[in-house]
Amino acid sequence: MPSSGPARTAKRLAQNSPGSAAFDLQHYLKQRVQFVEQALDRAVICRDVPGARLLEAMRYSLTAGGKRLRPILAIASCEAVGGDPEDAVGLACALEMIHTYSLIHDDLPCMDDDDLRRGRPTNHKVYGEAMATLAGDALLTDAFKVLARTRSKRADAAVILEVVAELSDAAGSAGMVIGQALDIMSEGQPTDLDTLEYLHARKTGALFLASVRGGGRLGGADPAQLQALTEYGSALGLAFQVRDDLLDVEASTEQLGKRTHKDDAHGKATYPALIGVEKSRAFAHELVDRAIGALAAFDGRAEPLRRIASFVVERAL
Ligand code: IPE
Ligand code: IPE
Ligand code: MG
Ligand code: MG
Ligand code: MG
Repeated sequence: MPSSGPARTAKRLAQNSPGSAAFDLQHYLKQRVQFVEQALDRAVICRDVPGARLLEAMRYSLTAGGKRLRPILAIASCEAVGGDPEDAVGLACALEMIHTYSLIHDDLPCMDDDDLRRGRPTNHKVYGEAMATLAGDALLTDAFKVLARTRSKRADAAVILEVVAELSDAAGSAGMVIGQALDIMSEGQPTDLDTLEYLHARKTGALFLASVRGGGRLGGADPAQLQALTEYGSALGLAFQVRDDLLDVEASTEQLGKRTHKDDAHGKATYPALIGVEKSRAFAHELVDRAIGALAAFDGRAEPLRRIASFVVERAL
């Protein structure tokens, strides 16, 4: 009898499982991206209802590609502690929906005022500012529905509730949103290193940390594993934004699918602006070494997390 859809997916994912001998990061990323995108496709459906343009606007940004790094980190963290991708799929979708909302709002004229994202005109350029704002609002709200309906073989309802609370904390006024507020408030203002780290750890780091910790929890992590994942996620999240700051200086618009050389023009508080390009590169490498070091007690199943950390500082996209 031919295997069913989910069974086929599980078999395909298992063929390149983290602990297997011939582990290939590119192949792993490609399979997990596909897995996440199929789940996202089911999570946000374009229905023939009055106001369907809102759903179209949500899907416009959600299906525009992107690295899908946060969902992949959730899945990889789940797998690193012995879970299956299926255990973290609800969290994975929620993370990408929240991240996509943050990009739509980040690009609005009242924020960074950008016209290109993921290689496409930004959401408000196509749908207008009101609809872009609402598409972001809806993605954020629906993300919590998707996460709340999570089923994990290794995590009970109390654990899932904790993941919901942590994600809310990471996305809201203690995390990404206050980071974005500080980012806007810091424009053109003198900033010191402590403030900059505080800002970056929230606007970007918090969601990375929630991805890694949430994935670990849903995979059944014990307290020591969760602590190690916390150190990994904090260092990696900060490294990711340092690299994003560097790419704004070094990369082309074509390469990134978003406008570059804008941070300086807007007087943004960034690492290259504060400590220069070379020191920023060195700091990003130091953070990634710290992230990888935190996983010392993990076995081969954490290989994707180690390799993703290296990718974060080397990436050119
Ligand atoms: C861009 O994030 C916004 C930041 C937090 C720096 P990504 O670089 O992960 O964007 P996509 O998802 O790949 O488009
Ligand atoms: C955005 O940071 C962080 C978010 C929470 C969206 P940036 O403003 O540096 O992200 P890009 O460079 O526009 O992708
Ligand atoms: Mg911004
Ligand atoms: Mg921006
Ligand atoms: Mg940036």
